[in-house]
Amino acid sequence: MYNSKITGLGYYVPENIVTNNDLSSIMDTSDEWIQDRTGIKERRWIDPKTDDTTSTMAVKASKIAIDRSGLEKKDIDFIIFATLSPDMYFPGGGVQVQDMLNMSTIGALDVRNQCSGFIYAMSVADQFIKTGMYKNILVIGAENHSGALDKSTRGRGVSVIFGDGAGAAILSRSEVKGKGILSSHLHSEGKHARELMMDGPSTVRWVPEILAENDSEDQSYYPYMNGQLVFKNAITRFSEVIMEGLDLNNLQKEDIDMLIPHQANLRIAQFIQKRFKLSDDKVYNNIMKYGNTTAASVIIALTEAWEQGKIKENDLVVLAAFGSGFTWGSVIIRW
Ligand code: ACO
Repeated sequence: MYNSKITGLGYYVPENIVTNNDLSSIMDTSDEWIQDRTGIKERRWIDPKTDDTTSTMAVKASKIAIDRSGLEKKDIDFIIFATLSPDMYFPGGGVQVQDMLNMSTIGALDVRNQCSGFIYAMSVADQFIKTGMYKNILVIGAENHSGALDKSTRGRGVSVIFGDGAGAAILSRSEVKGKGILSSHLHSEGKHARELMMDGPSTVRWVPEILAENDSEDQSYYPYMNGQLVFKNAITRFSEVIMEGLDLNNLQKEDIDMLIPHQANLRIAQFIQKRFKLSDDKVYNNIMKYGNTTAASVIIALTEAWEQGKIKENDLVVLAAFGSGFTWGSVIIRW
């Protein structure tokens, strides 16, 4: 069995900055409410006049990650793309990236696990590398939330939280024991599927049906979130899945050098930090400037932390996420 390690990281966010005050000019909200509840100061929303989409942002992040890995495009064996907001209903974003990067006919797999998407994608990539099937895998998390949010006062409980962006990692084969990805841990609880979801249009309620109802109050094609239930489940599941990873590797919470939590809400991350008694330099948050970018959040945060020199050789790095499904997971890495 081989090990997999991260050999390249990259991220891209749209240039267009939307501050809380900008939002308060289009809906009934305030900088104070948003910062108090979520820690978010601003987020990036795609300017429709640019060429940014979920897949083009993914390509921009991927180019940086491939470049930093020292590999060439022809060395990449497989693509795994996590997103809940693909450009098209089908096909998924993986094949678009394969095309835009002008890669050979390598496989492209799409992962639909929302906020946990990047964790799931890393785990899948790790298994392919461990078994020897592939040597270098491009793993992407990217989201265009702003294209499908209710930006009126009616949607304010959801729309102020989410931002756009993309991140990418190259996972490569390594034969060094005890380094790279040590383990990954994945969970789901589908009974909560409707607590954080977007209902339509879907195959059980397609466009003509929505149009025929002609209901201006219909919110089914915007994201819905039971915020308090999500919050309560998140703090429990984050803690469990981090402990699961530490226990499996005979590690203690004191061994964590860097925790990268999914950037759902700063209050959730602070709760976990306190529960694990981690100092500020051992938890990386950037939700203040990007909002919640769902499948992109962990990989953007990991890339920034690494760029800022906050992750060093041999550090124990823990990635963890929780989100719609509900799904949650962690990845334990010896850098
Ligand atoms: N601005 C001003 N007021 C608002 C806003 C807003 N943007 N949104 C809601 N309100 C109002 C509500 O209408 C409500 O008013 P009322 O009391 O008059 O009815 C009041 O604020 C309180 O609303 P709640 O929804 O109860 O607010 P809560 O304290 O639960 O905070 C929040 C909401 C921030 C969404 C919180 O529940 C939360 O963060 N939950 C976790 C969500 C999360 O992490 N989601 C992401 C994970 S999943 C994923 O990443 C896909």
